[in-house]
Amino acid sequence: LRRRGVEHGAFVPAPPPSSVKDARERFAADRPVLLEGALLPFSEEVRRAAAEASRFFSAARRGGGVADFVRARLADRRDFDLVGSSTDAFDAREIEKFYVHERAGGRRVAKDLYAKLSWISENEDDGSLRVRFSFGSETLGDWTRDRRRATAADRFAEVVFPEGRALARNAAIRRFVEACVKTEVRFSERIVYSNAPNGGAEFHHDAEPRQLGVLYGQFRGETAWLALPKRELAEALASFGAKGRLRAALATPKAALRALDDQNDAALRRLLDATPRFTRALVERGALIRLRAGDALLLPSSGFDACCWHAVFALGAAPSLAHSYGIFALKGRASPVTKATRRGAAGAKSRGGS
Ligand SMILES: [Fe+2]
Repeated sequence: LRRRGVEHGAFVPAPPPSSVKDARERFAADRPVLLEGALLPFSEEVRRAAAEASRFFSAARRGGGVADFVRARLADRRDFDLVGSSTDAFDAREIEKFYVHERAGGRRVAKDLYAKLSWISENEDDGSLRVRFSFGSETLGDWTRDRRRATAADRFAEVVFPEGRALARNAAIRRFVEACVKTEVRFSERIVYSNAPNGGAEFHHDAEPRQLGVLYGQFRGETAWLALPKRELAEALASFGAKGRLRAALATPKAALRALDDQNDAALRRLLDATPRFTRALVERGALIRLRAGDALLLPSSGFDACCWHAVFALGAAPSLAHSYGIFALKGRASPVTKATRRGAAGAKSRGGS
């Protein structure tokens, strides 16, 4: 495991769940669930689309944007109107955002859907990229309110990166997810990732209003994950024996749980993301997962304190390709589970969390 110049070591990953029952119990306990080979076999179309997506990311790494790729994918279609590009000058990671409107029966039915190409980090050593599909205003949080446009953005994502159908339309995965969250689901807020060697995401959670978890599918290459329930990460921090100021902040699991809410604490970030001895402690707790092409991973997120925290490491010599989707209830404003999520996320904002 190597990320942004830090060598974390070489480790053996945890085994996949031993049975469907084991997998469901893991989900209920906010643990990551590896669905080994769930996307296999890949069809020829999926392989071809995934190879094209990889070539797009290579071009983007050399300075390209996302507009040409989207235009080419929509060239012979009448269900999307091309709008144009923008770039947020205040976001150092954003490269280009390309907008479309969805059209049906001669009318515009969903406005301002976008594909946003960004670096995943401001760190110069991390060449990992992502494309996020959403709509409307990010600042106003439109995505939390408008299910109709959310599903239009999902369709847009499937046209631009069609390999994603192998994940989004996988009947066995859907059945398993719906049994875990006890409601019908949609997979929205889609992100396509290309993690580059020496790159990957640092520790974070994806607890968001009404989001029940995340579904991740590996299409090319490999990634390694440290993933565990927030409470268990807090226990690991409390028992690590941190020195200096962190010693008091991480004195008990309860204190460590609250310390995790400040995602800008530089000393804590160093401990979480760039301390090989801490990585080893997490691996010894069974938190390391290895994803190969064809594997899927579920990260439960039933509430702000009841969610799976995770970090990603690129493996191998070439950038990989993966899709990551938010899990949302198909109908209704909120199930009891999502109400808990909303309470937690409101608290996160007041405490300066993500
Ligand atoms: Fe995440």
